[in-house]
Amino acid sequence: MRLTDSLEGLTPDDLQGFFVGWPNPPTAETFHRLLAGSYRISLALDEHGRVVGFAQAISDGVLTAFIPLLEVLPEHQDRGLGTALMRHLLEQLGHLYAVDLSCDDDVVPFYGRLGMGRGNAMYRRNYARQSGVPEEGR
Ligand SMILES: CC(C)(COP(=O)(O)OP(=O)(O)OC[C@H]1O[C@@H](n2cnc3c(N)ncnc32)[C@H](O)[C@@H]1OP(=O)(O)O)[C@@H](O)C(=O)NCCC(=O)NCCS
Repeated sequence: MRLTDSLEGLTPDDLQGFFVGWPNPPTAETFHRLLAGSYRISLALDEHGRVVGFAQAISDGVLTAFIPLLEVLPEHQDRGLGTALMRHLLEQLGHLYAVDLSCDDDVVPFYGRLGMGRGNAMYRRNYARQSGVPEEGR
């Protein structure tokens, strides 16, 4: 297992199996596009070079970053990978003032162990767009 902060050399084929439980998940191509458009990423690669876990941050690059997505494939969970991905991503965001995310109650202890404090989150969801906005021109 290896962590990387780069998408270089990875294709949508290497990004299969994520968004478990999402009724209308992004395709692997859309997933590749959202990683490419992120401010910083952390990817866990298995011995075949396939991605088995990822974390993504978006940011203004000045003060604030937000971590929208973190996921480890089910068969790789509970082995410290989620923690390693978050540490790797937070290191890359060390120059910023604020790093925020929203999560369900059950993962609050997980993020707490990474030094994050608990706050409130407000959100809005447009489920018609859960699979992603189509690429322009498509
Ligand atoms: C959350 C997630 C990324 C953690 O990845 P992981 O590789 O299993 O994490 P680690 O092995 O580093 O840490 C696991 C610890 O977090 C806890 N944990 C993770 N998800 C949990 C959940 N949904 N409920 C309760 N505890 C959870 C585990 O119980 C474990 O605790 P322990 O160390 O006391 O045994 C992974 O469970 C996942 O992909 N879940 C589905 C997507 C998701 O919920 N993402 C977070 C969105 S905010």
